[in-house]
Amino acid sequence: MAKDLGIAILAAGKGTRLRSQRAKVLFEIGGATLLEHVIRVARTLADTSDIYVIIRHQADTVRKQTAHTGVQYVLQAEQRGTGHAIQCARKQLSQYKEILVLSGDAPLVRPETLRAMLEQQRKQRAAMTILTAIADDPAEYGRILRAAKSGPAVKAIVEKKTLTKAQHKLREINSGIYCFTTHPLFAHIDRLTTANAHGEFYLTDIAALLVKAKSKVIAFPASDIQEIQGANTLEEVAALDRTIRRYKCRDLMASGVTIYRPETCTIDTTVEIEPDAILEPFVQLLGNTKISTGSLIRSYSVIENSIIGPDVTVRNGCILDDAIVSRGAILGPYAHLRPGSVIGEDAHVGNFVETKKVRLGKGSKANHLTYLGDAEIGAGVNVGAGTITCNYDGVNKHLTTIKDGVFVGSDSTLVAPVTIGEGAYIGAGSCITDDVPGHALALGRSRQVVKPDWVKQKKSK
Ligand code: UD1
Ligand code: CA
Repeated sequence: MAKDLGIAILAAGKGTRLRSQRAKVLFEIGGATLLEHVIRVARTLADTSDIYVIIRHQADTVRKQTAHTGVQYVLQAEQRGTGHAIQCARKQLSQYKEILVLSGDAPLVRPETLRAMLEQQRKQRAAMTILTAIADDPAEYGRILRAAKSGPAVKAIVEKKTLTKAQHKLREINSGIYCFTTHPLFAHIDRLTTANAHGEFYLTDIAALLVKAKSKVIAFPASDIQEIQGANTLEEVAALDRTIRRYKCRDLMASGVTIYRPETCTIDTTVEIEPDAILEPFVQLLGNTKISTGSLIRSYSVIENSIIGPDVTVRNGCILDDAIVSRGAILGPYAHLRPGSVIGEDAHVGNFVETKKVRLGKGSKANHLTYLGDAEIGAGVNVGAGTITCNYDGVNKHLTTIKDGVFVGSDSTLVAPVTIGEGAYIGAGSCITDDVPGHALALGRSRQVVKPDWVKQKKSK
């Protein structure tokens, strides 16, 4: 028995107009590739085992970058046009009653629109439904030639290069997104020819062929032209990126996230933010970042793949990468949290402090000019200004352990591996090379020498 719906995603093209070696569908908007966005939409309508991505240009890279989604692939051995692409997937697609064709370079289409289009196709018993839009400037898009003034029936899709003078007035454009009843599609697809301006097999030509064979072809206009916007140039890629991020901010604000000057913020579609978080202008939140309720992210901070707990303050200009920050902590301004930084509740990481592979315990503070790398730091520790964990001996990295309640005086260097016991004090300016027992005072510097009148004597010479 035939399965219900198969989805083909056209992604074999090079994207000549982008002037890049990279395949068009691998350009990113909103933090994910164009193709990943299209796959995400497709998955709302079908299982990944029923989604076929048609690939050719940089096929291996395209596969690798989307393998995590679990979709199927069909290789289009030569690039001979959108119609040829569907011919290549004939074997796979023939097992379905209906086929939805999506374009790998049109990532903004909404699942609701596709569902409504499929419904219309069934209601009208159409062989082909074309998702269209009315454009002020139809630019490079194919145009829809309707069969009559009223009703959805379509006579043909006309590519820009073959428009007659009269057809230049047409304002309805082809999105490149279609649904088909499988039987009529494959009954006529072999009649496509390359007798057109590009010498390719155009899927668009199937509309006129179906009409000629007395099958029904209809148009389904999208409510918003943004939805069908494609990416054929880098300017269009940038426009799509702007749009998808605007949608992201709109959705976040609707869910209770405060965003000041959202047009200046760069938030990936993968980011999650709880209500009552506040984002100031010019914030970047990237990758799998999560921001919890009550947190404030101040301007010019860039947070990637990090988890921010509730009521955290990230002051201006912080950079976080793969970090975890617990409830009530305060960061910055200008803190740099590198991968593996785990900041405890109510801890402070201040100005020009760099952390890497560090656990900083509850309420501990490193407020100024410090490097903490490969360190386990307990609760209630005070790390003085200018402290450095010397974690690298030129060959290997070593651990610094600082137990609860330790006070590290300013400008200390802790040469790892080294352990500072609970409640110990490190005198300012110390170079600590040996373990310090709990509650001890350790000093690792030479005693100060004062030579009275030394300057006067030198000058009089
Ligand atoms: C196509 C339509 C045009 C429509 C526009 C919407 C045709 C002939 N024209 O033009 O009517 O207005 O989309 O964006 O279809 N691809 C393949 N194999 C190929 C050629 C293309 O997989 O052999 C893929 C591309 O990677 C791309 C998609 O098909 O994802 C569309 O191809 P593209 O070259 O961008 O078509 P347009 O010129 O935009
Ligand atoms: Ca296109």
